[in-house]
Amino acid sequence: MAAKKQAQSPEARDVATPMIEDKVGILHVGIDLGTSRSAIASSNGTREVMASLVGWPKDSVSAKVLGRTVVVGDRVHENRLALNCCFPLKDGNLAFTQLKGDQRKVSRRAGVRLLAALRKAARVQKGQAVCAVIGAPAEATRENKEAIIDLAREARIDGVMVVSEPFAVAYALDALENAIVIDIGAGTIDLCRMAGSLPCDEDQVTLFQAGDYVDQRLCELIHEAHPEIQFTSNMIKLAKERFSSMVDTQKRAIVSFPAQGRPTKIDITDQIRTAVTELVPSMIAGIQKLVSTFDPEFQHKIRDKVIVSGGGSQVFGLQDALESGLDELGGGRVIIVDDPVFTGAQGALKLAQDMPLEYWNQIRN
Ligand SMILES: Nc1ncnc2c1ncn2[C@@H]1O[C@H](COP(=O)(O)OP(=O)(O)OP(=O)(O)O)[C@@H](O)[C@H]1O
Ligand SMILES: [Mg+2]
Repeated sequence: MAAKKQAQSPEARDVATPMIEDKVGILHVGIDLGTSRSAIASSNGTREVMASLVGWPKDSVSAKVLGRTVVVGDRVHENRLALNCCFPLKDGNLAFTQLKGDQRKVSRRAGVRLLAALRKAARVQKGQAVCAVIGAPAEATRENKEAIIDLAREARIDGVMVVSEPFAVAYALDALENAIVIDIGAGTIDLCRMAGSLPCDEDQVTLFQAGDYVDQRLCELIHEAHPEIQFTSNMIKLAKERFSSMVDTQKRAIVSFPAQGRPTKIDITDQIRTAVTELVPSMIAGIQKLVSTFDPEFQHKIRDKVIVSGGGSQVFGLQDALESGLDELGGGRVIIVDDPVFTGAQGALKLAQDMPLEYWNQIRN
């Protein structure tokens, strides 16, 4: 959809318009910039997801083997031993903002590379301007939002707007009123109350224990039960994603991990259940905070429409566990989204397409 020309605020005229209007047509994109993986959906129909990971060859031999000077996305996992790896996001935010010196430079460069790889995946045509809505954690600071905009511009994205991740999900599903959206990611769990207008700070809660925390807990629990077993956090993450369940089922989580170099089968069903279940009380507390501070006449309505997205929404039994928790608050209904990988990016794309030109390059919640 072509961007609408409307009266523009001075900031938008100074910053955004010359860049965008000089180009031949606009490609709108929605980006879900995640701690563990990032997804992009674009107005030309392209959809792509990649690990939020960047790697540089360790030496000239690895550069020769890999045939490139930088690797972005899932290939980094596969070639991890030959690369110096960098996760540009931590706890849902760009990691460089918390770092100093060389580490800061490398992390910042990794962020630009990731955004550039996402842009490339959107198949931009020559001369086209790229206008992106990017999902960030619900309580991302102003500094973080500005950092996302700066890096996106360096990655040759012409117009940038930052929104909260759960708001992008709500927009995708047209759940703009009387709903609570929970996005369970790797770095953060973001909750957002939708009341028919743009959510403000009081409508949002970010919890900093999410999928990565579950992986860490799982490592501790498995190490306690099987000290002789060797594993990496990536092995644990893959096992969790394959077997995650909050309920006791017949299916056992049997994995084969090395002990003294020999593959050894162990049962980690109980450890997985314990680790994934630990997130539920804080989510219920987050829902309670958003419900209890809402207009009393509408509280039951938002409790009755709790929408859950993000990779962590795929844990078996989560819907029942949250609904049991909601019983304590007077009852409620939980819906798990059908497409946890792309719903955020798809909502961000829809917003990008609906946004008039003057809003580009300004920060929005
Ligand atoms: N089936 C599953 N069961 C449990 N957890 C899962 C499953 N599938 C994915 N996850 C977890 O979901 C998280 C990734 O989800 P998502 O891609 O939504 O996060 P992200 O966007 O990268 O992170 P954030 O939104 O915090 O920046 C990871 O911790 C991953 O291990
Ligand atoms: Mg996310």
